[in-house]
Amino acid sequence: MAAPFLELVAPSGRLLDAGCGAGRDTRFFIERGYVVISFDASIGMVRKCQEYPHAYCVHLSFSKIDFREEFDGVWACASLLHRPFEEAKSAVVKLATALKPKGIMFVSVRAGKGDSGENGRYFQYYDDKMVVALFAHDPRLEVLRAWHSTSLGPDGDQGNEWINVLVKRRSRQDLRNIAGQDPAGSVRTVDPSAKVAS
Ligand SMILES: C[S@@+](CC[C@H](N)C(=O)[O-])C[C@H]1O[C@@H](n2cnc3c(N)ncnc32)[C@H](O)[C@@H]1O
Repeated sequence: MAAPFLELVAPSGRLLDAGCGAGRDTRFFIERGYVVISFDASIGMVRKCQEYPHAYCVHLSFSKIDFREEFDGVWACASLLHRPFEEAKSAVVKLATALKPKGIMFVSVRAGKGDSGENGRYFQYYDDKMVVALFAHDPRLEVLRAWHSTSLGPDGDQGNEWINVLVKRRSRQDLRNIAGQDPAGSVRTVDPSAKVAS
């Protein structure tokens, strides 16, 4: 599942594992030479993740993250789906701010309709339109690719259907081109709530 993401993020890049759980993917990325910062809202998960050599995991929720242009890649596997849609949209803006320009974000969510409290945990389900809407409000973001996959169930049977998305944070030059402005050489702060014609 990580291959299309890693093809776009240079080895030795800095990754943010957002909602890392016990750190399965944190470990996978560290073993491949990436520098990984992870966070999770559950202190139990943070402790588990910290057990891996070279893991650096912080106890944080999406609403509290404040990273700025620090990461070449953001990996949010099966985590944003635990927040209601509007909160997930706000989290996407924060994750985009954590990415360096030209950085890559991977998000996976469960396919389906509505929401539920499966096993005491909140789940927001997504259709293809919702996935597009999750990123469309932030003009810094460009969806590169979205695809469906099916996970295996506990007995090797068919498990859940997922929607996976690869997103790029546009460079400042790309944003200027899109906005039809080219303030030669000037750097301006991008307001993610600003409307930019596409
Ligand atoms: C299904 S697990 C996925 C863990 C890991 N990404 C993986 O794929 O193995 C979802 C994780 O998201 C975390 N999570 C849920 N809401 C969160 C929030 N608001 N902020 C950060 N993490 C959150 C949960 O604590 C849980 O560890």
